[in-house]
Amino acid sequence: MSFEQILGNDDLDGLPGGGLNIAHEAVDRHAKGRERDTVALRCIAKNGAVHDLTYAELGQNTDRFANVLRGLGVTKGERVFSLVGRSAELYTVALGTMKNGSIFCPLFSAFGPEPIHARLSIGGASVLVTTAALYVRKIAALRVTLPDLHHVLIIDDDAPPPGTESLPRLMRAASPDACIEATMPDDPALLHFTSGTTGAPKGAVHVHGAVVSHVLSARVALDLRPGDVYWCTADPGWVTGTSYGIIAPLVLGATVIVDEAEFDAARWYGILEAHKVNVWYTAPTAIRMLMKAGAEFAHGFDLSAVRFLASVGEPLNPEAVLWGREVLGHAFHDTWWQTETGAIMIANSADMAIKPGSMGHPLPGVTAGIVRRLQGGGVEEITTPDIVGELALRAGWPSMFRAYWGEAERYRKCFVDGWYLSGDLVRRDRDGYYWFIGRADDVIKSAGHLIGPFEVESALTEHPAVAEAGVIGKTDPVAMEVVKAFVTLKSGHAPSDALRRELLGFARQRLGAAVAPREIEFCADLPKTRSGKIMRRLLKARELGLLEGDTSSLETDG
Ligand code: WT7
Repeated sequence: MSFEQILGNDDLDGLPGGGLNIAHEAVDRHAKGRERDTVALRCIAKNGAVHDLTYAELGQNTDRFANVLRGLGVTKGERVFSLVGRSAELYTVALGTMKNGSIFCPLFSAFGPEPIHARLSIGGASVLVTTAALYVRKIAALRVTLPDLHHVLIIDDDAPPPGTESLPRLMRAASPDACIEATMPDDPALLHFTSGTTGAPKGAVHVHGAVVSHVLSARVALDLRPGDVYWCTADPGWVTGTSYGIIAPLVLGATVIVDEAEFDAARWYGILEAHKVNVWYTAPTAIRMLMKAGAEFAHGFDLSAVRFLASVGEPLNPEAVLWGREVLGHAFHDTWWQTETGAIMIANSADMAIKPGSMGHPLPGVTAGIVRRLQGGGVEEITTPDIVGELALRAGWPSMFRAYWGEAERYRKCFVDGWYLSGDLVRRDRDGYYWFIGRADDVIKSAGHLIGPFEVESALTEHPAVAEAGVIGKTDPVAMEVVKAFVTLKSGHAPSDALRRELLGFARQRLGAAVAPREIEFCADLPKTRSGKIMRRLLKARELGLLEGDTSSLETDG
């Protein structure tokens, strides 16, 4: 990406001395300018207490955190992880890390010890910011196996557990003035873990130049404007919570709502009303839960400040789009993207008619296509309307991931003939709207979160009674899918309700509630390919009550 592209955008100005740094665009540009006294973050604690932070204050906090890192000897390119809920500290850590030129990697606080350990280890974390409770419950026991993790910083003001340091104490001692590291557009800024069908989680690397995509897409697909009150309900542990929970709205000088609590229909409507939210970005599972709560419930709140509603993460059913229009006064705009794309690629944008049930059109600057993989390794583009194929994007947009951390081969395989292959099956209608059909692989989508079946299977097979496990997404009316495991037992163990409960608890303890299976079914054996790979697709077909048919063609390694 050229500097002209960056500087040709009024929302971005580049570093004063040359270079580009997301934290400068998101914070310092405003902290030292007209927006200095604008509220950057409005943090709502679980008990409802509201705490505002202006851009000037966020500028000072993030400078302090950059200085804390410098004081600890943490340098450009080192990985700083966070494992915290939705709080002001998270923003300080994310943006202060980028000011230091280090790479920010958020983790989901509902992960259990195993997913956390895998990610810290793969990403080679040198710093982790978390709470005392999360550290003691989920990390302390495995700390010895993380030799690169030099610093664990605890955000609570209490005495930090052994082997950790108090972040508030370090922050008080640090200067509120820091010079931003002179990063360039292609320097890494963010690491976001995602899951594939096989193997360990993958760390998608994003660069500072991605901010060009963040800000353009937020304007076009979310109708976000400077001065808006904006609420993105995604957890910061996932890419949406960073690209659109932190970066895009702050670059645009919006006021960002940060709610510490989990979903609750009354609380959420109350926030939209009390804080006069203009733009709201949420997920289909949440919308379906609001629908369950009923229209009368919604009518008890004044939502007149709302101007634009958008959704991401999983298919948005047409009923949900129209329910928004009828009950909330605005239709939900579906948007499509992935951890790897870094920003919204396809959307029912503000300036186009919505087709309920469709993901919309590619955004300006994005070239999408539908392809079929060929035997020889290449791809063939499908241009006839309404034919299902794999969604592909022409490589080279600013927020395109630049690596899977430490896995060059896995990254290379995502690109064929200049296309990035998304793994999603879609069709495009005659008007150029894209329609989601399903995943081309076995990853599971539950409440908008991507779950790798392999990670769940590995945890289950650690139990002494389990011989093999095959894990699928079972259709669910609200969460879209829930994790279901099919398990065979080692000889000497017999299926029982007690063992089922034990396995559910075992998995939950290791994986955390967000990833663990909800259901376990004991089987005598699992369907396999000739080379012994478990055929999750057959398990899924069985679950759906579909005829398994002639499986001979599946007896391959495909
Ligand atoms: C996968 C990416 C970055 C967004 C948050 C999730 C599914 C995403 C839609 C949509 C149907 C969708 C796809 C995609 N997905 N948006 N609008 N309609 N499916 O990022 O965890 O990397 O998941 O979520 O399957 O590949 P992610």
